[in-house]
Amino acid sequence: MTDRMAGKNVVISGGAAGAGGAASELFAREGANVAIVDIQVKAGAATAEAICSNGGNAFFLEADVSSSEQVTAAIAKANEAFAGRIDALFNHAGTVIVKPFLETTEEEWEWLMNVNVKSMFLMTKAVLPSMLDNGGGTIVNTSSISAVAGTPMEVLYCTSKGACHMFTRAIAIEYRDRGIRCNAVCPGFIRTAHGLRELKELRQYSVDVSEEDICRLQGRICEPEEVASAALFLASADSSFVNGETLFVDNGMLVGT
Ligand SMILES: NC(=O)c1ccc[n+]([C@@H]2O[C@H](COP(=O)([O-])OP(=O)(O)OC[C@H]3O[C@@H](n4cnc5c(N)ncnc54)[C@H](O)[C@@H]3O)[C@@H](O)[C@H]2O)c1
Repeated sequence: MTDRMAGKNVVISGGAAGAGGAASELFAREGANVAIVDIQVKAGAATAEAICSNGGNAFFLEADVSSSEQVTAAIAKANEAFAGRIDALFNHAGTVIVKPFLETTEEEWEWLMNVNVKSMFLMTKAVLPSMLDNGGGTIVNTSSISAVAGTPMEVLYCTSKGACHMFTRAIAIEYRDRGIRCNAVCPGFIRTAHGLRELKELRQYSVDVSEEDICRLQGRICEPEEVASAALFLASADSSFVNGETLFVDNGMLVGT
């Protein structure tokens, strides 16, 4: 432990499991007080409990991050617990739809945009005023390699992640002079429920993502902790002059294609 987040109050959406869960644990180990905002009650409570039993400080807030009411209520509770000071927000919650574009529906488009993009709008809007009042803060958004590399069967997902990139850049430039840094972490395929389902579904549509292809593209599958480490860098003072950046965590996939 290096105490890189000592005493910092952090909100992590999607912090119950997967790479978000790994981030909740890592940030807490680095001294942060962590509010886990997630739709999964059991996993969220279990992650918070595990952190506390290891001497860290975390609590769970149930919310669907695509719902304005639920986000408002969760961030009000976080603000109360943190006495009105939130230092860092990790907008990690998100999901994927894998299917041919012509089979996707308007409802699916709206749902995915709400979960992956509107969620960042709602969470950031809810947290930013407290950051500004307190002189600054850091925001990290989870984008993806899919923001820049098109994948067949993922038109909706790629579009949503392209929006995350520009949300990140535009927030950074609008609030830079008020102490806010906003960056994105952009992983390749990660060993999480999301990543493993995505690979399975892409294979069902004969998209080239066999073990061999993953090896060719990114050497091996990314571990959730490797995404958490990159998010920690962007959320902490270690990245104090990094703003509006998109950090690819893909072992060179992007530069190799
Ligand atoms: N897994 C990958 O291969 C991969 C690659 C690139 C980017 N990503 C991005 O990472 C994020 C997914 O994380 P993961 O891979 O750790 O997956 P995961 O499925 O293991 O975890 C996602 C977490 O987000 C939560 N969540 C989902 N929808 C939510 C909602 N509406 N409200 C609140 N919480 C919600 C889930 O309950 C879960 O705890 C997404 O933003 C995804 O686009 C994943």
